[in-house]
Parts: sequence; C-alpha cells; structure tokens
Amino acid sequence: MRIVIKENRYEASSFAAETIAMQLQKKPNSVLGLATGSTPTLCYEQLIRLHKEHYVDFSAASSFNLDEYHGLSPDHPQSYRYFMQQKLFDHINIDISNTHVPDGLNENPIQACADYENEINAHGGIDLQLLGIGRNGHIGFNEPTSGLQSRTRIKTLTQSTTHANSRFFGDEEFQPELALTMGIGTILEAKKILLLAFGKEKSAAVQTMIEGALSAYCPASALQLHPDAIIVLDREAASRLEHIEFFIEVEEKQQALMKSLNLS
Ligand code: F6R
Repeated sequence: MRIVIKENRYEASSFAAETIAMQLQKKPNSVLGLATGSTPTLCYEQLIRLHKEHYVDFSAASSFNLDEYHGLSPDHPQSYRYFMQQKLFDHINIDISNTHVPDGLNENPIQACADYENEINAHGGIDLQLLGIGRNGHIGFNEPTSGLQSRTRIKTLTQSTTHANSRFFGDEEFQPELALTMGIGTILEAKKILLLAFGKEKSAAVQTMIEGALSAYCPASALQLHPDAIIVLDREAASRLEHIEFFIEVEEKQQALMKSLNLS
C-alpha cells in the first residue's frame, strides 16, 4: 500500500484526478472502475475541469461502476447510473455505450452479476479502480464479513446501510434492500487501485484498513494484498494512524527518489 496524506480533501481529490488523467494519457483506452457516494465527487469535478481546460480525453475509455441498487431504474435520482450521469458522464467526452453500471432492473440479478464479470473480462480487466470506504470498512457494497475472494453478486444491505440511506428516499417511496456489487476478489483484480477517504468519521476504518489485520471484518483491509494500491487521505482521515510520521517520511523519500530518477 502506498499511503498519500494531503492537507485537505481538495488536494487529495486533485491528486486522484491527476492520477486518472495520467492513466488516460498512458493508455487512452483505459478501463476505469468508478465509485459513487460523496467521496469521489470532488475528484469528478476535477476531472471535468481537466477535460474542459486541458482536454483530458475520455473518448476511447470505458468504465465499470462498483455497484447499483436492485430495483431502481437508471433514471431514478437515487440510482448510481443517474449519479454517474449527473456527476461525470454528462460533462466529459466518454462514449456512454462504453460506460457500465450493474443492471438494477434485471429480473435475473444472479445472471446480471455473472454477465457483469464477463463484460469486465471481455474488456481486458480494470486498469484503475477508484474506491471510497464506508465507516465500517466496506468497499463497494461489500459489508463486514464479505468473502475476501467474492465476485460480483447480489447482496442484502445491512440495516445500518439501509438506515443511513433512508434520508435519500421519501417516506412512502420504495427503498432498495438489495444491491448488485463487484466482489472483493473482483476489485482486487484491478491493475491499480486508488482509494480515497476524507474526514474524521472515516479515520477508524482507515486505521483498521492500513494497520489492522487482514480480515473480512474490515473488507478494505483486503487491499493490503494488492501490489499497486494507493490510499489517498486528508489529514482528518489519517489522524488515527499510529505510524503517520513514518508514512509521511516514506512518501517524501519515494518522491525524492522518483525525482532523482526523472520518473515523477
Ligand atoms: C459507492 C460505494 C461505497 C462508498 C462508501 C463511502 O459506489 O461503493 O462503498 O464508497 O459507502 O461512501 P461516501 O463516499 O458517501 O462516504
């Protein structure tokens, strides 16, 4: 794991957006794994700016989102497809037919999940996967105790997740209790992983993910196994790390080495 600690979420999001832009420069037809939620929104704003001002080009790229609610149509304001359109896809030059979000309306969600895995493989796998982290350490909708080698599947949401999300749904409105999500094994197959976490409410999960034991109890701890996982934190999210000074020193030394080798 490479731990990058930035002063605030704006700097952290710029770092993430620049990493994605560099990936597209290196490989224009990159396959991007994308996330929803509050965490990636600033990064998406930065990507839109980089596209408009510096013409970062998404025309050959494709994308796969981590998850989608079961039972919500793509035009439902709480669906993740709708979120992606609003926050990113409508503002960049990605070909919408190359963007993929699990099919929340498929009558056979088990088949839809298998198809999603096949589609990822048919695209040659994910080059760069963007992630957020839940307060309980979840990634995607892989809640604590999810199998560390799990694949894309339909999952029952925990009561705490359903409760946390109830604020987005009206009193009489249907609120999904199931979701389709990439598995932890699926996520780990991405060639590069970029996890963002901001705010002190994420600091306990971040500490367990980085310094705790590898355990299904903290799904994000599975990233300890990944050869190229970058964890980008603001100061608050990093505040509980016991080895924070060491992580800062490692990153500084690494940057200096890259510079001396003309690799940064
Ligand atoms: C979203 C997702 C979730 C979120 C996590 C954090 O696609 O997969 O795992 O990344 O719940 O959510 P926020 O960013 O809203 O704190």
